[in-house]
Amino acid sequence: MEIKSYLNTQKQLVESAFEEFFPLAEGEFKAHIEAMRYSLLAGGKRIRPILCIAAAQAVSEIEVANKNILPVACALECIHTYSLVHDDLPAMDNDALRRGKATTHVAYGEAEAILAGDGLLTWAFDLLSNPQYNGLDADKKLRITHCIARAAGSFGMVGGQTLDITNENSTFPFETLQSIHRSKTGALITASVVTGAIAANASPKQIAALEQYGNHIGLAFQIVDDLLNVTATTKQLGKAAGSDVELGKATYPAFFGIDKTRELAEKTVEDAKNCLTDFDEKALPLRLLADYIYTRSH
Ligand code: IPE
Ligand code: IPE
Ligand code: MG
Ligand code: MG
Repeated sequence: MEIKSYLNTQKQLVESAFEEFFPLAEGEFKAHIEAMRYSLLAGGKRIRPILCIAAAQAVSEIEVANKNILPVACALECIHTYSLVHDDLPAMDNDALRRGKATTHVAYGEAEAILAGDGLLTWAFDLLSNPQYNGLDADKKLRITHCIARAAGSFGMVGGQTLDITNENSTFPFETLQSIHRSKTGALITASVVTGAIAANASPKQIAALEQYGNHIGLAFQIVDDLLNVTATTKQLGKAAGSDVELGKATYPAFFGIDKTRELAEKTVEDAKNCLTDFDEKALPLRLLADYIYTRSH
């Protein structure tokens, strides 16, 4: 299996699911929906929904993501996209470029961007709980919703973003750095893997192993994001390179230098793959995704 073709196939599936689920820019709230669609359909890598699908495939015979998995996968991407819209705001990282396009506040204004983020976050929970989209039983829906709410909120992504902002231009201990990365980025990535597994009837033992896998790749994902911010170009990334140094962010390269950071990212990916030893060949996509997180160029 080629990771590139796997990613392409799953990405297309996610894009068509969005076409099916997401509201069209029409009617009374046309301008608001247009701003949400602008950021959501701007062409991200869709790593979180793909991880959700891959985790479901690792524990079941589901070859193609179905009606039970896709709404969960799309909800995760809505929350991720909202986090980016808000992350780019002038009061946060103040970025003008995202996914190769003007950021939402640059294109639509600050108030509209804040509201587009709010709308995307809330839409995720509409999607998770709406029986029209989601065929999961009530117990699974509740477990999945709680897992995602926890990961997105004050003890996950939002909490991590507050640490990220308050530790700008500071001397930070390693524990703080790790905690920022685990919460601002790792938590939602772990939730992506865990909720895919729950939706596909994973056993508690499988869920525990996948949670560990998610913790490692979640951390690795942000370490590599830090590396790329230093080593790649703005054109390659579709977002501003070099911004972490400019803003005095707490990053792995700032703490360890580039070479050591690469080493740590690679080791973290190996740790992730070691969590999958009890899984059979159905977990191949998860193994390849772990490698991809290290080797990706944007
Ligand atoms: C960027 O996430 C922000 C982080 C959490 C590191 P992605 O690299 O997944 O961004 P998109 O979705 O592909 O644009
Ligand atoms: C992204 O952190 C984390 C979230 C959006 C939750 P960064 O601020 O490091 O990500 P980029 O580099 O802007 O994508
Ligand atoms: Mg940020
Ligand atoms: Mg940022």
